[in-house]
Amino acid sequence: MYNFNFYNPTRIFFGKDRLDEIDKNIPSGARVLITYGGGSAVRSGLIAKVKTVLGDRKVFEFGGIEPNPRFETLMKAAEIVRNEGIDFIMAIGGGSVIDGTKFICLASHYQGDARNLLKFGFARVTSKVVEKVVPFGAVLTLPATGSEMNDGAVISYDHGKFPVMSEMTFPKFSILDPVITYTLPEIQVANGVIDAFVHITEQYITFPVEARVQDRFAEGLLQTLIEIGETTVAEPENYDARANLVWSATMALNGMIGTGVPQDWTTHMIGHELTAMFGIDHGQTLAIVYPAVLEVRREQKRAKLIQYAERVWKIESGSEDEKISSAILKTREFFESLGVKTRLSEYGVTADKIPALVEQLKAHGLTALSETRDITPEVSQKILETAF
Ligand code: NZQ
Ligand code: ZN
Repeated sequence: MYNFNFYNPTRIFFGKDRLDEIDKNIPSGARVLITYGGGSAVRSGLIAKVKTVLGDRKVFEFGGIEPNPRFETLMKAAEIVRNEGIDFIMAIGGGSVIDGTKFICLASHYQGDARNLLKFGFARVTSKVVEKVVPFGAVLTLPATGSEMNDGAVISYDHGKFPVMSEMTFPKFSILDPVITYTLPEIQVANGVIDAFVHITEQYITFPVEARVQDRFAEGLLQTLIEIGETTVAEPENYDARANLVWSATMALNGMIGTGVPQDWTTHMIGHELTAMFGIDHGQTLAIVYPAVLEVRREQKRAKLIQYAERVWKIESGSEDEKISSAILKTREFFESLGVKTRLSEYGVTADKIPALVEQLKAHGLTALSETRDITPEVSQKILETAF
């Protein structure tokens, strides 16, 4: 196991009817900005409930944070934070609203050109760069990204998606009420299962480092998602299935299983280009790219693929190569069982677009991907061709 630092200060309030915690966890005199997306949280009545819980506090609202939140939109909210003296933000939404809110928290009092904040990537924005960060809490409406308990955001600007990370942007608290997610369309639930699944595998199917705790956490989470995936898509109001999806998705990317192990993230980086260029949902991009990554990288990932086949899919018979092939096929079939297509060609993208995607990876400096940093643009091209 590698050396690691672990830090996660986010308080979680899990279960039915937890909105009262908002009142207990925000200072009584706070001026609060509620951030939300395209309106699902207004239509469901959730925003009205949050406002009631906020009681006498002065409340402002900023709606319209789009999926794959855009820099320009978020800067409008940052202006409200500055002009109105906002001292706490409540994000009500999925990954896009929570990510967007993290960026608003960082950008509101940043002294320079906020586009600079997009350049730090995994190196993280520190308190030397931004001295004053607005605190925030979240009510999660879509289980998928893990943003409700991590310090990362993905912000769209120009023709790219940029990771923005900072220890100052962990939510102070997040409310995880599975019932709030019942209104999700089927496809968003399926996307969420796949996003959580691939977050786990990007931190698990790499190479062995004797990290038995992290491996077994990862395997348990994957098995849980496989057990409840189809049910939670087909039966949105099955509380137990949805509760397990919500907690799996949070645990998948709150830092726990990624400590002390190599991490890949190739699929996410290639997937971000597919979203930026064709507007394909984040979860769908992963369903397209991940089976192809496993196929192209089966030798580099050999030991962990066999472990994945045996422990997660319980594949006991056949040669090692047969076990690997079977595990890759089962992964693809699992995504498809949720109603998500796994071939690039099924999303209206033609093969002649692949070179342009590879050029975008180069333009964004993504030329040495994977746990061993040996996925060159040529290998990415092969992955995209395999995904076609
Ligand atoms: O905008 P509204 O009207 O609320 O509708 C949203 C949106 O259209 C809808 N929705 C959300 N909750 C709902 C609901 N509809 C009905 N009922 C509810 N309860 O769902 C649609 C998609 O929402 P979005 O927030 O975009 O989805 P998701 O949570 O999948 O977030 C995707 C974003 O997160 C980033 C992605 O790149 C993408 O920008 N990621 C963030 C990560 C992180 N912070 O750690 C890691 C991930 O890998 C990912 O990259
Ligand atoms: Zn993801």
